[in-house]
Amino acid sequence: MPNIKKENDLYIPSGDLQEKAWQNDKAIYQKASDDPIKFWEELAKELFWFKGWEETFKAQNESLNSQPYFEWFKGGKINITSNIFEKNPLGFDKIKNKIAFTWIGEPTEEKPRTFTYEELFREVNRFANALKNLGVKKGDRVAIYLPVIPEVIIAMLATARIGAVHSVVFSAFSSAALQARLQDAQAKILITADGYYRRGKVINLKQSADEGIKETEVEKIIVVKRAGNEIAFQPSQDLWWHELTEKESPECAPEIMDSEDLFFILYTSGSTGKPKGTIHACGGYAVQAKFTGKWIFDWKENDIFWSTADIGWITGHTYSCYSPLLNAATFIIFEGSIDWPNPERWASIIEQYKVSIFYTAPTAIRMFEKYGADLIKGYKFETLRLLGSVGEPIDNGAWQWYFQEVGHGNCPIVDTWWQTETGGILISSLPGIGPFKPSFTGVPFPGIKFDILDEAGKSVQANKEGNLVILSPFNPGLLRGIYKNPEKYFDTYWSKYGKNVYFTSDSAFKDENGLIRIVGRVDDVLKVAGHRFTTGELENIICLHPDFIEAAVVGKADEIKGEVPIVFAVSLVDKGLDDLKKGVVDQIRKEIGPIASPQAVYIVEDLPKTRSGKIMRRILKKILTGEDLGDLSTLANPQIVEKIQEIVQADIKNEA
Ligand code: WT7
Repeated sequence: MPNIKKENDLYIPSGDLQEKAWQNDKAIYQKASDDPIKFWEELAKELFWFKGWEETFKAQNESLNSQPYFEWFKGGKINITSNIFEKNPLGFDKIKNKIAFTWIGEPTEEKPRTFTYEELFREVNRFANALKNLGVKKGDRVAIYLPVIPEVIIAMLATARIGAVHSVVFSAFSSAALQARLQDAQAKILITADGYYRRGKVINLKQSADEGIKETEVEKIIVVKRAGNEIAFQPSQDLWWHELTEKESPECAPEIMDSEDLFFILYTSGSTGKPKGTIHACGGYAVQAKFTGKWIFDWKENDIFWSTADIGWITGHTYSCYSPLLNAATFIIFEGSIDWPNPERWASIIEQYKVSIFYTAPTAIRMFEKYGADLIKGYKFETLRLLGSVGEPIDNGAWQWYFQEVGHGNCPIVDTWWQTETGGILISSLPGIGPFKPSFTGVPFPGIKFDILDEAGKSVQANKEGNLVILSPFNPGLLRGIYKNPEKYFDTYWSKYGKNVYFTSDSAFKDENGLIRIVGRVDDVLKVAGHRFTTGELENIICLHPDFIEAAVVGKADEIKGEVPIVFAVSLVDKGLDDLKKGVVDQIRKEIGPIASPQAVYIVEDLPKTRSGKIMRRILKKILTGEDLGDLSTLANPQIVEKIQEIVQADIKNEA
């Protein structure tokens, strides 16, 4: 019996998968929407709390204006690590010998490392004790700048164990990006590694860490020996992870946290050069992480789950760490690039490790598609039963390819919509219920109230595009603020429609079945290979370079990456064009990292502007796509448009 059947343009789960799914009763939607607070409360009761909450959901009085605007499970006492380990509601004795995760290094000849729940618990406690001995206390910020190695999970859990706050910084971010995050969080401890493998090369991470701590409050760097590369080791400041933990006890009592205590900070791109630290709360995040993973990925006893996202992003935090661990699931983490040393590395990992649930991004799927189905002809993917997608809209072509070539027409695809801010998945049809429709992300998770509004705040009709918003009581895992920046919190999420409506900054529409299709961002965010940057932050960074006085960045559609940044920069210095272009690229790599590299840089005399001086990025976008530019009479400098057009066209000709 197949696991999915087609009805008109919808795909409906069936067979074994549907019958045995954790959640396969449609009635859950009605029940949850009748009383979403009660719905979450019932789920929360399935976790272990040292003390129950006094109020399930509390919205702030409209007249106040301090973070947070709402609270969940207030007064409840919890520690997420107790729910994973010693107080796991499934019974720690039952799960302790189960494999929590297997780590696969990039070099193919390297031996994988595996941790059972008990082994992981012991390592977490050892490291928690080590942190305590260094003076780390509840509420202190601990920065983690690690590649995907087991220690990243151990470090996060150890920090959570003692009630400290982790701020994980993606290891491919540059030292300047690290520095900005360390400064904002005022972290005193930084955990990093000597190096790691990337496409066959050893990257010296410690060197970036050493650069990154300049002008910060970091006092100690804990270094994991990963790649064995030579590093500058300063005994007064640096500590080896293995020496530090060697003699520590494998037992450590959990810190008892209030549900609303600060759990972690994760930075995402802000509209200026400064990243914004989204803050997440202990209780609500845990509840949402546990049940979104359980119902959407449907982990069962023998499943092997693999999410390809780096742990430095929210996807990694929630679905390569907290959510599967709370569910005593078994998963894989992988250090390398999924197409290294050969383009089918990902397929060989699925096959070799018997992955049954695979979660990746449309960028990766489009890349697989480009390599062609022939490449994976030899792979049967017999163990796969469920596929997932995240990070950007998946177009019909990529959806069909994923469904046919990887899922062999028998695996539902959960297209999961969420954000760094939401902490966990909020839109995705469930594998036991459906329905699934190519290029539509699906229906909201039970208990989540979405709406699509026009500019005036009125709901739009089916099939009409508008702004995607979340209505009260939101979701337990939604961010509680921007670290040290309540104004930004208000401006970004709550100023458009008021404090009872969370503005997602996405544009979307609903079909007649209530399935939501995400169209894209309405703000200045670019999604480059699923990674999030704002045009404003890139522009700011370019202008920090002495050679440039002005810059405009626009996104251009890209076959694989979805979108790529294109830079228009104005320079007054007398240098060769190639030097100037290289200056822009190097500056972005230095300040953010190679993932934000522009696909093209145009050095121009001026940028198209309105009379009030506003840069018209819309016109630059049209120049790139060759669209009709429309009326230019409102511009202060219409003559510049033709000059820019010539530069862009010459470049396109060159490329061809
Ligand atoms: C933005 C959030 C949390 C997941 C990783 C990205 C876009 C996310 C989807 C999807 C279409 C999606 C939205 C959102 N997005 N998932 N399934 N379909 N678009 O987190 O970097 O905070 O970005 O990613 O535009 O607002 P993020």
